[in-house]
Amino acid sequence: MKVTIFGTGYVGLVTGACLAEMGNHVVCVDVDASKVARLERGEMPIYEPGLEPIVRRNHAAGQLAFTTEAAPAIAHGQLIFIAVGTPPDEDGSADLRYVLEVARTIGRHLDRYTVVVNKSTVPVGTADRVRQAIAAELAAREVQVEFDVVSNPEFLKEGDAVADCLRPDRIIIGSTSTRAVELLRKLYAPFNRNHERIVVMDERSAELTKYAANAMLATKISFMNEIANIAERVGADVELVRQGIGADPRIGYHFIYPGVGYGGSCFPKDVQALERTARDAGYQPRLLAAVEAVNCDQKDKLFELIERHFAGALQGRTIALWGLAFKPNTDDMREAPSRRLMERLWQAGARVRAYDPQAREETRRIYGDRPDLVLCDGAYAALDGADALAIVTEWKAFRSPDFARIRAALSNPVIFDGRNLYDPATVEEAGIAYYGIGRGRTLRRPA
Ligand code: UDX
Repeated sequence: MKVTIFGTGYVGLVTGACLAEMGNHVVCVDVDASKVARLERGEMPIYEPGLEPIVRRNHAAGQLAFTTEAAPAIAHGQLIFIAVGTPPDEDGSADLRYVLEVARTIGRHLDRYTVVVNKSTVPVGTADRVRQAIAAELAAREVQVEFDVVSNPEFLKEGDAVADCLRPDRIIIGSTSTRAVELLRKLYAPFNRNHERIVVMDERSAELTKYAANAMLATKISFMNEIANIAERVGADVELVRQGIGADPRIGYHFIYPGVGYGGSCFPKDVQALERTARDAGYQPRLLAAVEAVNCDQKDKLFELIERHFAGALQGRTIALWGLAFKPNTDDMREAPSRRLMERLWQAGARVRAYDPQAREETRRIYGDRPDLVLCDGAYAALDGADALAIVTEWKAFRSPDFARIRAALSNPVIFDGRNLYDPATVEEAGIAYYGIGRGRTLRRPA
């Protein structure tokens, strides 16, 4: 099938590459000419495992093209996807400027029946607004062209985006148009093997499904962080509690890892946007506001442990950080807990030596060159001259370190484990003081 995709961010680029991989002819449009030029050369704008080979292969095979030209791209697609960004407004609601601009562009060029598919995460009611924006442009041109607008939210996870896209656990098609649903069923047939993954519903339910999924996952994380905060006060170990509750299939082991708070481009933004949507609809959400508040406080957790350990004397100290990205297998620093930690350490007069397998360039781009930040080439290099080590992102490479080497490198052998990667006893046997999240030990340890 012929597919056009507006936006070559995470969602647009991954969707375009995966649809091309399944044999479709895909044209990806972006207003950023330099990004398009880089993609044409096979350079990825993001780090995402497995993406580069499928982009290069399909581009070379003529299945996947990149352009800044909207008109020919609109002429190309039977299906036109909108996958542009929806950054949060100051009030937390999603800014639809880019989505509606694409809708107007489509309306200015549309000349035959087309299905417009919304993949961006957008507030309930956006499909209607996209429809109106297209219709207004068609009316201004005095042409009559039929089209449908479908909500087809994306559930891919950064770091697993290609795998999630090629093997989705569900495909939500939000549309009441039989014609549009049939076209999307055909497009997704190769992704829909073994058992039925397609769930057809109305547009508004599809739009809300995306927010509900992310808000539920964020709720699980904040819930566990709250339990961790209780555990440490009552002398319990949240890691044991986690295993104890996860065994109940109604709860499950997924997404109950306490830590330094959730980050990324989706959870913080989507929880806030859903809260806003609820308020606009006349409902005061209580859970969502709490989920957000718990997460905000949790991002201070590591700093507070470090500050307490050093009895507030952080001036002139050097803290080594392992992990900067908001989660492993990405270079994404959006809303990353490492940012809050570094900023608070700097405010307190401490220096940071940090290592991350992928996010160093992105960190440099955000913070520039500064004397209190050294971005190191290796995990152990980050320990040189450091007083303490803080684990912020659970990259696999940090899971079984050489504790003797850590102990030898640190002037004040102590690990602040923001992801509960290590067994406290093992670390302590190696002669290193240990702090985790909710491990019931932090309060009993003399500062
Ligand atoms: C998320 C959703 O998972 C995905 O379905 C949606 O389409 C986009 O948002 P992503 O932001 O890539 O994906 O990351 P995810 O793996 O979900 O992690 C989000 C954050 O939660 C990370 O900061 C992670 O460290 C944190 N997290 C996750 C926890 O703190 N504890 C957990 O148990 C799980």
